[in-house]
Amino acid sequence: MATKTTTTKTTKPAAAATKKATEPATKAAAKAPATSKTATKTVKKASEVKPVQKKKILFVASEATPFIQTGGLAEVIGSLSKAVAANGNCDVRVVLPLYSDIKKEYRDKFSYIGNIYVHLAWRNQYCGIFEYVKDGVTFYFIDNEFYFKRPGCYGYFDDGERFAFFSRSVLEIMPVINFYPDVMHCHDWQAALAAIYLKTNYCFRPEYQYIRALFTIHNIEYQGWYSLDLLSDLFDIYGSYQYLVEYKNSINLMKGAIECCERFSTVSPRYAGEIKDEYYAHGLDPIVRKNHFKLSGILNGIDDEGYNCAKDTHLFANYTPDDFRNKAVCKNKLQKLLGLPQKADTPIISMVSRLVSHKGLDLVTTVIEELLQDDVQVVVLGTGDACYEGFFSDLARRYPDKFSANIIFNGDLSRKIYSGSDIFLMPSKSEPCGLSQMIACRYGTIPVVRETGGLYDSIKPLENGYTFANYNAHDMLYVIRQAMSDYKNKEEWKKLMYRAATTDFSWNRSAKIYESLYLDMLK
Ligand code: GLC
Repeated sequence: MATKTTTTKTTKPAAAATKKATEPATKAAAKAPATSKTATKTVKKASEVKPVQKKKILFVASEATPFIQTGGLAEVIGSLSKAVAANGNCDVRVVLPLYSDIKKEYRDKFSYIGNIYVHLAWRNQYCGIFEYVKDGVTFYFIDNEFYFKRPGCYGYFDDGERFAFFSRSVLEIMPVINFYPDVMHCHDWQAALAAIYLKTNYCFRPEYQYIRALFTIHNIEYQGWYSLDLLSDLFDIYGSYQYLVEYKNSINLMKGAIECCERFSTVSPRYAGEIKDEYYAHGLDPIVRKNHFKLSGILNGIDDEGYNCAKDTHLFANYTPDDFRNKAVCKNKLQKLLGLPQKADTPIISMVSRLVSHKGLDLVTTVIEELLQDDVQVVVLGTGDACYEGFFSDLARRYPDKFSANIIFNGDLSRKIYSGSDIFLMPSKSEPCGLSQMIACRYGTIPVVRETGGLYDSIKPLENGYTFANYNAHDMLYVIRQAMSDYKNKEEWKKLMYRAATTDFSWNRSAKIYESLYLDMLK
């Protein structure tokens, strides 16, 4: 809990007090030749008293690793917050709902800070506040059993009300935790209302007036559409602000956040361009184009320590980019585990994915039987739409020696698959960023991807993978077969594996870009 105290209180007066003393000294140091004794002395003095005023950043999100995860959003919140905090320039805090699915091992460590009542339209609801510090980041959890004591995170009829309560609570707890952020960084539609409420209800109060909102879109497909009838009764938005959230005769929370925030971003530069286009924007392209001057695209990273083939304890054997010999052990044991023939030279193509249409599964279902005529093994892991789950299960029954369907979500098995396969297929129709292609690379497994969103930005043909441009099943098959043919050239393939495994997907670069965006917003 050491980081609980805000730096503002202590650093502000210090900053003001030292300003006079440091300014002339710094100027003198700049003028004097670098070698002169005076210069060295003065520079030292200046650096000794240099005020450290960290920027205060508050992430607002509906999930974060290691506490609760349904998808890539959680990994980004967990690892980006840690990376920004590690750079040392920001005091980073995160607010999450206290879902009952958060494991007891964590809940037991949370400390209770206090409780308030949160007013939303005619409701007045209990809001408990818990705190936990991890890797230099302070996490707050909003407790309300009526809203969050349910299995899972989403998919309830009252999700709009649940996340309205959550978003309103984020603003209401600020006086209790004594933290008014410089930047409130809201992620996806579940946190959109925090940016909207800031503009409609809070920014007129002195403590809130300097808070800037950044809204990050992780997937534009999920926007938070609601009936306009709910405007005041459920969302507590005055009629005079209807124009901010109204879209196509409904409430659209993502649209509201884009209108209300100072800046918005998305998770890859390519996707930032794509969402201006009707094909990708799920109806929001006019709003994105209208606000294009506030938009940036920043490629996600991955937690490269968490995904490290040399240390990952989930693997059958560990290996490094300089010595891939144990990857063959991983492959052999994976084949055994999945009941596939243990053939060292047959390439394994894997997919670890939600089984939904935009992941490109229509392309896969179109040509998979053609592909299975080759000397190949295909492994699928994931859950999703019943039509794909059924299709893949049936395929596994008909091709038991070539196809393995694992209709589950299993973190341990996913790492065994990333490490034990040769080629990783990700033919998404759209992909805001995608983390799996980066994870596959880290394990020396070569991605075959469609050139869209973050797949385009992270995978370069022959540098660290294979790509195809059009959403076309036979274009995909052609490139897969090219990879399978290159796979036979062991020496060249090893070099490709090395390049993939050593591509820099760490958060270092992107966390710095976020930091400069925060600073830019505060100008
Ligand atoms: C969403 C996107 C995915 C992205 C992730 C994290 O799940 O669909 O492409 O990697 O968010 O930003």
